[in-house]
Amino acid sequence: MITSSRLFVAATISLFAGSALAEGVVNIYSSRHYDTDERLYSEFEDATGIRVNRIEGKADELIARMIAEGPNSPADILLTVDASRTWRADQEGLYQPVDSELLRERVPEYLRHEAGHWFGFSQRARIFFYAKDRVETPPKTYAELADPAFQGQICMRSATNVYSQTLMSSIIAHQGEEAARTWAAGLKDNLARDPQGGDTDQIRGVVSGECDVAVSNTYYFARALRKDVDGVSAQVENIGWVFPNQSTTGAHVNVSTGGVAAHAPNRENAILFLEYLASDSAQRYFSEGNDEYPAVPGVGLSPSVAALGYFRSDTMDLGLIAENTPTAQAIYNAVGFE
Ligand code: FE2
Repeated sequence: MITSSRLFVAATISLFAGSALAEGVVNIYSSRHYDTDERLYSEFEDATGIRVNRIEGKADELIARMIAEGPNSPADILLTVDASRTWRADQEGLYQPVDSELLRERVPEYLRHEAGHWFGFSQRARIFFYAKDRVETPPKTYAELADPAFQGQICMRSATNVYSQTLMSSIIAHQGEEAARTWAAGLKDNLARDPQGGDTDQIRGVVSGECDVAVSNTYYFARALRKDVDGVSAQVENIGWVFPNQSTTGAHVNVSTGGVAAHAPNRENAILFLEYLASDSAQRYFSEGNDEYPAVPGVGLSPSVAALGYFRSDTMDLGLIAENTPTAQAIYNAVGFE
């Protein structure tokens, strides 16, 4: 067992070993746009002398751009979110394998691709938020979302959204297609309204009274604790939350990912950058930028995330879960969950 302090030293040594040799640039295609990321890039530049060039955009646009650029793409790294989207990018051949002992030691196995195509650098759980004054016994498991006891009470975003797809993919991975289909049909029957809006809108629905229980990623609520989010922050005292499946499979988690681009012109610098992202200080900047949980065990939580607390996560391999993405969409379609 390697302790986290030893790993941090290993991360630092690796970083500075790189600094003696490395020069030039690393080109990062990123769908992230957080202030704390500026510190990430400047710290990496200061430590290595490698200049960071960034192209920022919406995830699907960056992926389309990389596909269009093909072997001429200047991208060294793709940073994006969600295992399903990352799986699609991988299916398009946008990543290459990275064999890094440091990354294997730092990033838990279930949060990275088995051949090193991508690594999860922060995580978020998909959990339940409920109205304390209206819900005495909130659902404790994903299965219970489909229990008739919650008829007309649940709010969840569209099945076309990647978060919904990855959640369904995990249900398929644990219980099989038939059970997943039954679950989707029951969940559809329990919806308080047609799926609409983003995750924050589901939590807003709890505040407005339209929904009793909302399914949302943790960071949308943590953000409302940290700063003013219209329609949520003023009412946080009445919102309770449940980390599902704590006595069984653990709460479904998803990831922000980084992987080395298939045609990376600066491959070694790209690997150094990914290794840097796994260091303690980078983990803190990276996760805090979006009120997420760090991927590397032992790295502290930001105050807003600490308020939500620690939980038991589903440790089934996210790369394997995401392979169910096409089946997940087919099941939602089959039961008319839009
Ligand atoms: Fe999100």
